[in-house]
Amino acid sequence: MGQLEGKTAIITGAARGIGKAIAELFAEEGANLVLVDMDEDSLNEVAGEFNAEPVIADISDEKQSVSAVEKAFGKFGSLEILVNNAGITRDGLAIRMKPEDFDAVLSVNLKGPFLMSRAAARYMMKARYGKIVNMSSVVGIMGNAGQANYAASKGGLIALTKTLSKELGGRGIRVNAIAPGFIETEMTRRLSEAAVENFLSKVILGRTFGKPVDVAQAALFLSSPASDYITGIVLPVDGGMLIT
Ligand code: NAI
Repeated sequence: MGQLEGKTAIITGAARGIGKAIAELFAEEGANLVLVDMDEDSLNEVAGEFNAEPVIADISDEKQSVSAVEKAFGKFGSLEILVNNAGITRDGLAIRMKPEDFDAVLSVNLKGPFLMSRAAARYMMKARYGKIVNMSSVVGIMGNAGQANYAASKGGLIALTKTLSKELGGRGIRVNAIAPGFIETEMTRRLSEAAVENFLSKVILGRTFGKPVDVAQAALFLSSPASDYITGIVLPVDGGMLIT
């Protein structure tokens, strides 16, 4: 039997990259899947591939996030897992960064998980069980030149994770975060050569990048009953980058 058999899981940002890898693994483990993204064509394709319910929504919009969660519960009649994975970058040095680019990144990466989590928590609280997994980043811990908005959003997401774990723990809802290092996806393909070299030099495990499935395995652990006594943690998936 799969580790997520009979459980309903919402995964945001599931049209590609890490979110898609999580969808694939969760499908193998028997979850009822609801995949949320703004990229309609790719999302429909991925949902078809994994026999999942696609929901086109912008998670930074309150109405759309609440409605996405309602659709998931309406379709499967339960909601045990929420993976807040959708995220964006708008890189640039802080002194030159447009305030709109700061707002845009905070809105998707931090307000999005806040809105999705409280919408999901309504159902999870009634069932007295739930798992929320937030996709942070090592840069939310270390900071990163050129990513003031992104690093602040990911650091904020860690604080949100710890706060929600305290507010919701008494109702059986576990809230944890993952801090991926450098994972090969569309997002990291946009980084400069210097930034890539800087990250690679910090990877203890032989200067190799991580793969989306490496992060998906951590998301599975934090979503499955195997981690039921764990809440409020940040699990790095970074090849050792954080300790260098
Ligand atoms: P990606 O850019 O390949 O995919 C992100 C997905 O989120 C896309 O399908 C996009 O359409 C969707 N999305 C963006 N804004 C959205 C919104 N407002 N509403 C709904 N969907 C939205 O990114 P990747 O690399 O797969 O990253 C996934 C998560 O992991 C992000 O939160 C990212 O910050 C985080 N992360 C990635 C790392 C990496 O090295 N790739 C490292 C650390 C963290």
